Amino acid sequence: MKYVIGNWKSNQNLTESLIWIDGIHALKPKFPADIAIILCLPFTDIAAFNHKIADLNIPIITGAQDVSHLAPGKHTGEITANMLGELVSYCIVGHSERRRDFNETSQMVAEKAKLLLENSITPIVCLDLPYLDEQIKELFQNNIDVSRCFFVYEPIAAIGTGHPLDPVEANHTTNQIGFLLDNVAPVLYGGSVTADNVKSFVDQSRIDGVLVGTDSLEPTLFAGIINSLI
Ligand code: PGA
Repeated sequence: MKYVIGNWKSNQNLTESLIWIDGIHALKPKFPADIAIILCLPFTDIAAFNHKIADLNIPIITGAQDVSHLAPGKHTGEITANMLGELVSYCIVGHSERRRDFNETSQMVAEKAKLLLENSITPIVCLDLPYLDEQIKELFQNNIDVSRCFFVYEPIAAIGTGHPLDPVEANHTTNQIGFLLDNVAPVLYGGSVTADNVKSFVDQSRIDGVLVGTDSLEPTLFAGIINSLI
């Protein structure tokens, strides 16, 4: 199984997200059975998005982009894993943008992963070299079952820059990540993935799929990525 994960980041309000579904529906991409399509949405879009894709029978699985590191309780404004459990099957944790803008630590990411797993949500753990070893160590120290997680190698220099990493070089690092995890979990690549380059990543021996930011926002570009893998 290969995976295409979209990450809308802080884009698309509810109305725009429903228009996006209309766009995908009109394009009718093939959705091959051996490729799982996961789309990580803003919290505010998820419930209505789920209803609409179910009505239209579109085989996209939804995910969130973050979760609180705290259990339910007196934490005004936090969205807990317990809340997300009714809405999504996946959740991104530890994206470098959250480390950069919200001072997230590897310890917090491990706490988030633990709460997600307790609520039957698969954590999609983002990794880059400055904190890659530290993050994996932290997961093990918190007794996280890494075989129930997904991992994405996301070199910061490639994120949103239009300068993807060389696929062979990316494969080298995903292979190392796989080794650190005893090869029990999928390892994906993320960073400036487009319809033109997606196959060169997914065809690598140790890249199980891609995480797509910018080109997941436009139905035409996202459908183009899916179609390129058929
Ligand atoms: P990008 O984003 O596809 O725009 O490079 C990737 C990511 O940050 O997940």
